[in-house]
Amino acid sequence: MSNARVEPGPADDDRAGARRAAMVQRLRELGAVRGEDVARAFSTVPRHLFAPGASLEAAYAPENTVLVRRDDTGALVSTVSAPHIQAMMLEQVQVRPGMRVLEVGSGGYNAALLAELVGPSGAVTTVDIDPEVVDRARSCLAAAGYDQVTVVLADADAGVPDRAPFDLVLVTTGMWDIPPAFTDQLAPGGRLVIPLRLRGLTRSVVFESAGGRLVSRGYELCSFVPVRGVGAHPDEVIRLDGDDAAIRFEDPPDADPVLVRQAVSWPRVEVWSSASVGEDGSFEGLLLWLATGLDNFGLLMARPAAVARGVVGHAWPLGIPTIVGKGSFAYLALSPKAPGQTSREFGVYAHGPDAEALAERMAARIRTWDGGSLTARIEAFPADAPDLVLPAGAVVLDRRHRRLAVSWPTATDLPN
Ligand SMILES: C[S@@+](CC[C@H](N)C(=O)[O-])C[C@H]1O[C@@H](n2cnc3c(N)ncnc32)[C@H](O)[C@@H]1O
Repeated sequence: MSNARVEPGPADDDRAGARRAAMVQRLRELGAVRGEDVARAFSTVPRHLFAPGASLEAAYAPENTVLVRRDDTGALVSTVSAPHIQAMMLEQVQVRPGMRVLEVGSGGYNAALLAELVGPSGAVTTVDIDPEVVDRARSCLAAAGYDQVTVVLADADAGVPDRAPFDLVLVTTGMWDIPPAFTDQLAPGGRLVIPLRLRGLTRSVVFESAGGRLVSRGYELCSFVPVRGVGAHPDEVIRLDGDDAAIRFEDPPDADPVLVRQAVSWPRVEVWSSASVGEDGSFEGLLLWLATGLDNFGLLMARPAAVARGVVGHAWPLGIPTIVGKGSFAYLALSPKAPGQTSREFGVYAHGPDAEALAERMAARIRTWDGGSLTARIEAFPADAPDLVLPAGAVVLDRRHRRLAVSWPTATDLPN
């Protein structure tokens, strides 16, 4: 265990203690912290010591990411993740005393939480590709009293073979593929939790090994800075409005970028699905349902400026599900909030010569969504797995190291 103080002291004054208690309370209310062990870890580790330069308020805001590094182009390359995301992942995997854990992507804070959870009989290794991040993580961990954490400077694509095997590999950078080292270095029965991009949106997926492949045991929508180094994967981008609106694709779409850009000037076609979501309802499941059922799928990333200019109808922080045709595009919409109404209807906005057909295609897929009662099964097969071993009806995303298969088993399907 750490020698970090829970009691007020020179490194952890009353104000920080009060902020920490309020943060844990809020994380419980959000449902991000559910177990006492995770609550205790968040109550113990002095997060402000891992967020130099941030105010106490910013350091302990439950949904606040602390920005720690941008690259030369201004792109965000390292953060101390928001507490609610860290709590969600720790609850997903249930870290136990005595575990050997590898954290991929270092900030120091999450490694300290892990050190609290595995206790003195466990071991935490954290690896980062960025020397500045590694230096900062080392000094913050030392200042907070977590010298037992091993911080390694390396591209995590190769794992950390000297410290393997691990009971848990917990990845905190957005990945497009699963490097072989992440599973080769898992102990038998070990778990991998990884923010995996599935056609744009990222989900933190918990995997277990079963019969030569990985099988998901749960997933949650999230957002992480993208992986760097050998695992980096550049998106295909069609800009609709300079830097203010663009459609991002994981794989090149079958479309003409120049014609798609010109489609913006076509009048907007609207198609409504008659499917709706309640005011408090979540429709995260719909996003994956659309992503796994439509070709030429991407995410429309827009800023308020593009909405104000009328280029797009709305902007969502994680991106809007979008499909493109040769010279047209169509994206998900929600009916405006009307006074007294308790639900909103899903629709599609589209532009270009094929707007109507594209919008109808997306609307037809929306109508087949079950409202969220089904959970997708995500499986990762070796890259050379033949088609016949893949689940029937699965959408297959071929990566360099894995074939990712996403299927929607019903209650009558086998559990494995
Ligand atoms: C969101 S931050 C990690 C946050 C951290 N776990 C915390 O305590 O909040 C993601 C980190 O992943 C690192 N990273 C990106 N690509 C990497 C790679 N190939 N190998 C190791 N680290 C990588 C980045 O340098 C960045 O510091």
